[in-house]
Amino acid sequence: MMKRLYFFLGKGGVGKTTSAASLALTLARKGFSVFWASIDPAHNLWDVLGMEEGSGVKRVEGGLWAQEVDLEVYLRRFLAETSRKMRDLYRHLTILNLEGMLDVLRYSPGMEESAVLFALQDLLETHRDKDFLVIDTPPTGLTLKIFSLPFSILMWIDQLKKWREKILERRSVVVAIKGKEALGKGVAIDSGEDRVYRELERQEERARYMADLLRDGGRVANVLVMNQDRLSFTESCRIRSFLERVSIPLHLILLNKFGLVEGGETVDEARVAEAFSPLPVRTLPFVRGGLGREDLVSLGRGWVEELV
Ligand SMILES: Nc1ncnc2c1ncn2[C@@H]1O[C@H](COP(=O)(O)OP(=O)(O)O)[C@@H](O)[C@H]1O
Ligand SMILES: [Mg+2]
Repeated sequence: MMKRLYFFLGKGGVGKTTSAASLALTLARKGFSVFWASIDPAHNLWDVLGMEEGSGVKRVEGGLWAQEVDLEVYLRRFLAETSRKMRDLYRHLTILNLEGMLDVLRYSPGMEESAVLFALQDLLETHRDKDFLVIDTPPTGLTLKIFSLPFSILMWIDQLKKWREKILERRSVVVAIKGKEALGKGVAIDSGEDRVYRELERQEERARYMADLLRDGGRVANVLVMNQDRLSFTESCRIRSFLERVSIPLHLILLNKFGLVEGGETVDEARVAEAFSPLPVRTLPFVRGGLGREDLVSLGRGWVEELV
């Protein structure tokens, strides 16, 4: 049974993959079964773990399994499923050009995010027997869009259901006046029999599941990673306020590459603690000369326990 799902958020290059690796390896060495998935289009899991590149799920060590998820595959599956549904629901509209529709859908706004959300749902389903699921996220902008998607889908569906109810109401008025024959065969007046309404309810259920999950601090833990530079600090503040707006809890701040000063204005630990109060802030030292697997495990000391 899945105990928890982890997301690592933060600006590119701050150490999300590194700290995710640290968590995944540490949990596995404690005897848990862990699945670590990268949904970042610029994958580097194998590189960080010092393994040969490859597709599909691979065993890293002990109970740790990892995968660089091919989002193109999910995008294609998502498009195929969406157009199949539209074909089913709108069979009577011969005017719809389905081949053309696929192209239109492919480049519609929100498709990439929808496909990633679709991938996430599939991963959760496929690996629900694991104790922990660690997600290596794409760049901030895309991650925040994925996080907000279930909430915007819910708002849309709410409105679409109301419109559909109006249509069904009008149909029943027609039936009351002209009799059942006035409507075509198979045209529903009851929401329980209407295919469109039922599809809306199915989509609503899926979005509700994700929205509830993301807001459930017991099942999901969000870790925000930053460095001491001004830019990653500012981006982290932005991520935090976004999460607050959608009521998604944040669990821990990791101030990574601590002690590495590269010129420019730096932010110290006290400033971070103050800005993110009352959240715990843990510092991870900058390790010179590359990070081997044992270094990754060492980097997990002092904060991994807090997330279990
Ligand atoms: N604590 C650390 N000490 C030394 N190097 C680090 C540390 N954390 C990350 N790095 C290095 O910084 C680079 C970016 O880290 P990565 O985890 O890939 O960032 P992100 O996933 O946020 O883009 C990598 O080369 C990684 O080895
Ligand atoms: Mg990364």
